[in-house]
Amino acid sequence: MNPIRLDVDTPSRRYAITLGYGVLDQLAVLLDAARVPAQRFIVSSPPIWRLHGTRLAGAGMSEPILIPDGERFKQLQTVSRVYEALIRANADRASTVVTFGGGVIGDMAGFAAATYLRGVALVHIPTTLLAQVDSAIGGKVGVNHALGKNLIGAFYQPHAVIVDPSVLDTLPRREFRAGLYEVVKYGMTSSPGLLERLSRERTSIFARSPEVLSAIIGESCRIKAEVVARDERESGPRRILNFGHTAGHALEAVTKYRRFRHGEAIAYGMLVAAEVSVARGALLDRDRHTLATLIASLGPLPPITDVTSTGILESMRHDKKVVAGRLHFVLPTAIGATIIVDDVTEQEFKKALKNVGFRS
Ligand SMILES: NC(=O)c1ccc[n+]([C@@H]2O[C@H](COP(=O)([O-])OP(=O)(O)OC[C@H]3O[C@@H](n4cnc5c(N)ncnc54)[C@H](O)[C@@H]3O)[C@@H](O)[C@H]2O)c1
Ligand SMILES: [Zn+2]
Repeated sequence: MNPIRLDVDTPSRRYAITLGYGVLDQLAVLLDAARVPAQRFIVSSPPIWRLHGTRLAGAGMSEPILIPDGERFKQLQTVSRVYEALIRANADRASTVVTFGGGVIGDMAGFAAATYLRGVALVHIPTTLLAQVDSAIGGKVGVNHALGKNLIGAFYQPHAVIVDPSVLDTLPRREFRAGLYEVVKYGMTSSPGLLERLSRERTSIFARSPEVLSAIIGESCRIKAEVVARDERESGPRRILNFGHTAGHALEAVTKYRRFRHGEAIAYGMLVAAEVSVARGALLDRDRHTLATLIASLGPLPPITDVTSTGILESMRHDKKVVAGRLHFVLPTAIGATIIVDDVTEQEFKKALKNVGFRS
């Protein structure tokens, strides 16, 4: 299979996503083609480096900067370790930070690249499904604060994104499924063909078949690239990618980010949005059912029977998607189509949460 190349054309930068099995073997060539400075610093985590570090050996980079990658380490203190390593290595403006890891590494090392000396070149090499289809593209970088998730950050587009799905072979099944729910999101908001493919080729997807995985990752990257190109800073069309993220983020927050992988919470969030939409007559129940069946077929989600809808509603009030006191909410109107509304009432949310299985 030949690698595919997708361009992300944003006002602040134009860059390529290169996707293909084995593209890591051409890393040096790809980095040169992206014209990033030759003093290159890899940032990764110890487990990822142990599993896949040798794949990067030929690219002529120095010792990796290794930082821990659990969500609880996604904070300024860890980013500070990256600054320290860069300073000690005399990294100057003509340096490149290459991130090699999941969304946590990409967000932290990306933030370091955006801020070190007011910005050095950045290349993402995502190693989780979630990072390959979502977090490595679009320029959101940042860290959590003790008082809330992703509160500190920047928009900082990378100079290149290199996606080699062969690294996913070692990804634990739960992490893999968590990434698949974001693919469901792309299907539901933008691509009926992708959604259909997820249900038709489920067995090959879980067998991590190179052909099928490349196809679904490629379609997801294409959608994300296209949406980001239209709206780099999420003032308009990019908001559709928040489908499922309102109730989803609230669910992550009320369970203290311990019980759910991000994608799992989003799966619930998508079900809530679909319920609201059906109750309004904006979505056919048949389409909601298709979504629910697909989500169920991807495996069990952690239970929510002890999570109250009151708690979710309370948490939703603090959502970043609240603009001037109104919550922007993405409603699916068909498979592959959405609208954004700002008038969903608490009563509507309550009913939808109950239908999905939350405690009243
Ligand atoms: N920037 C964005 O636009 C954006 C979008 C979505 C999510 N995010 C962020 O991404 C983060 C979640 O990212 P994630 O789901 O990739 O989680 P993660 O980075 O925590 O990785 C999950 C786990 O998988 C391990 N891992 C990574 N690659 C592996 C591999 N190839 N084989 C085996 N194990 C591997 C990691 O060590 C880690 O334990 C969250 O902090 C979220 O806020 C950012
Ligand atoms: Zn998400």
